[in-house]
Amino acid sequence: MLNLRIDEEKCIQCGECADDCPRNVLSLDAGYPAVHPEEEKKCIACQHCFAICPTGALSIFGLDPEDSSPLNDALPSPQQLATLMKGRRSVRRYLEEPVETSIIAELIEVVANGPTAVNNRQLLFTVIESQSTMTTLRKDTIEGIRKVAEQDSLPEGLEFFAGIVDAADDGNDVLFRNAPHLLIVSSPADGSSPEQDCLIALSYFELLATASGLGTVWNGLCRWALTRIVPELLEQLNIPENHTIGYMMSFGKPAVKYHRTVQRGGARINSI
Ligand SMILES: Cc1cc2nc3c(=O)[nH]c(=O)nc-3n(C[C@H](O)[C@H](O)[C@H](O)COP(=O)(O)O)c2cc1C
Repeated sequence: MLNLRIDEEKCIQCGECADDCPRNVLSLDAGYPAVHPEEEKKCIACQHCFAICPTGALSIFGLDPEDSSPLNDALPSPQQLATLMKGRRSVRRYLEEPVETSIIAELIEVVANGPTAVNNRQLLFTVIESQSTMTTLRKDTIEGIRKVAEQDSLPEGLEFFAGIVDAADDGNDVLFRNAPHLLIVSSPADGSSPEQDCLIALSYFELLATASGLGTVWNGLCRWALTRIVPELLEQLNIPENHTIGYMMSFGKPAVKYHRTVQRGGARINSI
């Protein structure tokens, strides 16, 4: 049920809602926007009709336009966003204290607004919030890798994980960087682009977390460890079996402060 409602006193019949609908679900045949019952099932719930209405006359799914954030003059400047993108760093030193649960929830709630293919929106954000669980996962992961390494059974190309165990024995947490949290984003494998959807969400999370004073690091080592060396530990995290694991990201309150952007440059552009 789309529950499309038009406030005819506010609607200026501009037709933007119908023109912007990617599936041509709406029409203004009767003067005001309406959904043809046969077209209804084509709707991908993207809310473009709702977002584009200049007068807030259109409601769908029971949403009130008044509850949305107005966009006029509210977006960050390109300069601000560029500084965020260039100033974001992979953080590998963290404070011991965890991030408040409510802050994690707020970040994820925003990140869940990111694009997904065909507006699939089936992402699952698995967050290790509990510090005792994180400690157990750290320990069990290293012990699991140790066992596999001792049996000479590390997957081809991942033999270097034996060194990660040695580092852990020396008190150096190369795998989790002592971060208090791990975020794993997954999505049902039968979606049209599950991996890409997850990576986009994590990219959004990284930037929003940085803007919120938190640190993050894409955790490829952890992903390899949990998906390929000790998958039995991943199974304990209640991620549905039919999910593709997009990626993993460690995060927390940084114990490090960066004072300037890096100067990478050198983008390779293939201008045609
Ligand atoms: C897909 C991906 C996987 C990564 N995996 C790890 C990792 O396992 N451990 C780590 O310390 N850094 C990891 N990084 C961070 C990169 O090393 C880092 O982005 C790069 O050195 C540039 O530094 P910067 O992020 O501070 O700009 C990863 C980054 C990406 C994009």
